[in-house]
Amino acid sequence: MAIERTLSIIKPDATARNLTGKINAKFEEAGLRIVAQKRILLTVGQAGTFYAVHKERPFFGELTEFMASGPVVVQVLEGEGAIMKNREVMGATNPADAAPGTIRAEFAQSVGENSVHGSDSPEAAAEEIAYFFSGLELVG
Ligand code: PPS
Repeated sequence: MAIERTLSIIKPDATARNLTGKINAKFEEAGLRIVAQKRILLTVGQAGTFYAVHKERPFFGELTEFMASGPVVVQVLEGEGAIMKNREVMGATNPADAAPGTIRAEFAQSVGENSVHGSDSPEAAAEEIAYFFSGLELVG
């Protein structure tokens, strides 16, 4: 399987509960390597640009205000099949549906406050990584 890179975000509900280390331990245990990372505070506008694909959905305002409500850790994960592997380790979007042992099963609070985001395709990964990082910031 090809080596891929994917964008991961540790969301404000998780940084507020000091879960960054526990979440990243799960990625690393799954063989994913953090090759770029920064802790930032998004504006509602920046979150809206990032989630523009969802702008017509009823929860868009709630989602963007939540993502701007506290610090997030944006990071790039690298590894074999990293895009799907990241999503497996995260678990289903709604924690009620997430498989035991996944990040969302263990830590997420609701479908919105679900602790982590991960790119869902190679195209999304390329676009989302470029939104937060320059090539110089990716150190494998
Ligand atoms: S998915 O995985 O893209 O099919 O999930 P989806 O249900 O389409 O949700 C997309 C993102 O929107 C967030 N979400 C919500 N936020 C706030 N309130 C409500 N009700 C809500 N429903 C969904 C969900 O956490 C997804 O965020 P990301 O960061 O993409 O996982």
